Amino acid sequence: MIDEEKDIISNAQSRILDLFAELDDKELKTLEQWLGSKKYRKDLENKKSIIRSDKLLQKIGDTIKEMVPFEAELPSENIMLPTVGDQADCNQVNTRHVDEFLYDEEQVDELVKDGKLSRHYCLDCNSQNIKELNLISHSMSRVQLQYIFKVLLPKDLEDKQILDVGSRFGGILYSAYYFTNASNIIGIEMNKECCEIQEKIIKQFGMDKNRIKIVHSDVTDKDDLVKKSNICIMNCFDFFIPTEDHKKLWYFFKKHLTKGSYIVLNRSIADTLTALDMFEEFIDWLSICRPFQLENEIFFDVEDLHEIFLYVVN
Ligand SMILES: C[S@@+](CC[C@H](N)C(=O)[O-])C[C@H]1O[C@@H](n2cnc3c(N)ncnc32)[C@H](O)[C@@H]1O
Repeated sequence: MIDEEKDIISNAQSRILDLFAELDDKELKTLEQWLGSKKYRKDLENKKSIIRSDKLLQKIGDTIKEMVPFEAELPSENIMLPTVGDQADCNQVNTRHVDEFLYDEEQVDELVKDGKLSRHYCLDCNSQNIKELNLISHSMSRVQLQYIFKVLLPKDLEDKQILDVGSRFGGILYSAYYFTNASNIIGIEMNKECCEIQEKIIKQFGMDKNRIKIVHSDVTDKDDLVKKSNICIMNCFDFFIPTEDHKKLWYFFKKHLTKGSYIVLNRSIADTLTALDMFEEFIDWLSICRPFQLENEIFFDVEDLHEIFLYVVN
C-alpha cells in the first residue's frame, strides 16, 4: 500500500474508533454483527446511491440559483405574510427567505460566514440587543425530499401518479424522478415564471418528458388531475394565498382526492386546519400512516424529520 493510501485508511480507522468508543458493549456487538452481514453491504450500496442522486439534485439547485434572485422570490410572485398559523408572527423586519432546496444547512452556514446572510436582526440599532430572524423556506430541503421518497412512501410506485401542488422550482418533482420509479410525476403551479424555470431544468437535465410534466394552472381548475393522482404532496401555502382561498383549497381537495390516495404534508393536518378554523369538518377525512420503508430510516437523522407527515384518504 502506498503511503497516501495508508494515511487515508488510518484516518478512517481513527474516526471509526472515535465513534465506537462512545458505544456500550451491547451496542458494539450489534454493530459488529451488522458490519459482518450481507445487509451492511446492501445498506452501503443504498447509501452510495442516495449520495449520487443527492449530488444531482445539488447540481440542479446550483443551476436554479443562476436563474433566480438570491432570496429566490420572483418579481412576478405575489408573496404575502401569513395572518394565521405558526408563521403569523412573520413580518418584513424579522423574516428572510432562504430556499432550502437551493441552500442546505452547510451552505447557509457558509453564507452567514461570508456575510451574505444574517441570522439576527437588531432590536434597536447599534446595540447588542439582537433577535434571531425567522429564516423561512418556500421549498422543501433535499434531505426532507429524500426522506419522503426513501422512507415515507411505498417503494414501488410503478403505474402511480405523483402530484406536487404548487411545484414552484420543482424540487419535489426532480426528487421523485431520481428517487422513485413512479410513472407519472406532475407539478401544477399557478406562477408562469416558476413553470418556465421547471421546464428549463427538465430540458437541461435531459429528463423524460413522458414521465415528468409541468402544468401551468390554478389547481382548482384541474380537478381531473387531482382525482387521478395516487400521491399528492403539498408544502404549506401560507405565503401564497389569502386565508379564505386557503380554506377553499382544502374543501376542493376533500371533494376530489380519491379514497386510498396518499397525502404528504410538511405540517400536520391538525395544525394546518386548526389554524384555518376548519379541523372539525375534516376530522375523519384522513388517517396517518406509518412510513412504508422503515428499513431506510438508517440513512437519515429522523429526529430532524418529524415534521413530515404521510396520510391516506379514508
Ligand atoms: C411553498 S411553495 C411550494 C414549493 C414546492 N412544492 C416545494 O416544496 O418545493 C407553494 C407554491 O404553491 C403555488 N400555489 C399556491 N396556490 C396555488 C394554486 N391554487 N394552484 C397552483 N399553485 C399554487 C405557489 O405559487 C407556490 O409556488
